[in-house]
Amino acid sequence: MMRRKLAAGNWKMNGTVEDLTQLAEIAGAALETGPEVLLCPPATLLSRAADAARGTWMRIGGQDCHPAASGAHTGDISAQMLRDAGARYIIVGHSERRTDHGETDAIVRAKAEAARAAGATAILCIGETEAQYRAGDTLEVLRSQLAGSVPDDATGDTLVLAYEPVWAIGTGLTPTTDEIGAVHNFLRDRLIDRFGPDTGTAIRLLYGGSVKPANAAEIFAVADVDGALVGGASLTAADFIPIIDALSAA
Ligand code: 13P
Repeated sequence: MMRRKLAAGNWKMNGTVEDLTQLAEIAGAALETGPEVLLCPPATLLSRAADAARGTWMRIGGQDCHPAASGAHTGDISAQMLRDAGARYIIVGHSERRTDHGETDAIVRAKAEAARAAGATAILCIGETEAQYRAGDTLEVLRSQLAGSVPDDATGDTLVLAYEPVWAIGTGLTPTTDEIGAVHNFLRDRLIDRFGPDTGTAIRLLYGGSVKPANAAEIFAVADVDGALVGGASLTAADFIPIIDALSAA
């Protein structure tokens, strides 16, 4: 099973029109073959970002969606709307959403289902907190998040799973490569148990949390790491392109 590698950038609540120059530069590093390159700018920039990416191989994604297709939900954005603005992927269940907005596994699952219904691929995030990591509960936490938030009909086309240890996000800290390897191996086994060998090996597994040009190559050398979900280092071409290059070389 050949899984296409994926370098995904999550701009979070960063970026105004002037930052589209960075996005356009990054788009130039996306090729037809090799790793897929994705940027998820804030919703305010989505359609402009999609315009900037047109004619390139870079894909554009959203950072969150509402579970419903439309309705009275002031301030929310549906998966259909994100698709309409040019998003191919939608991040769901990011730890910042789980923390800031009280999103449960059930809500995250409904969002992943909404993404699929709209024809977008969900990038579903799971990860343990620092306290859970210190207590040695990482795998149990991930087992439960995976069981609760991944839809039963997930496939390699509709779902990407991102392992983002909460304590590694924005901190400059990362697990050791052995720890990342153990987690990704565990997640792969759980996906095969649940979905069978074909689908279980088709779903891509990303690592996220303080991925930088300096550590990308060693992380991408870990078995079952199919790419990265990058926050801070995806904001500039100078940081993100070396990460894309490291994934190409892995
Ligand atoms: P950083 O790369 O800034 O640690 O953020 C990771 C992340 O949360 C990506 O979704």
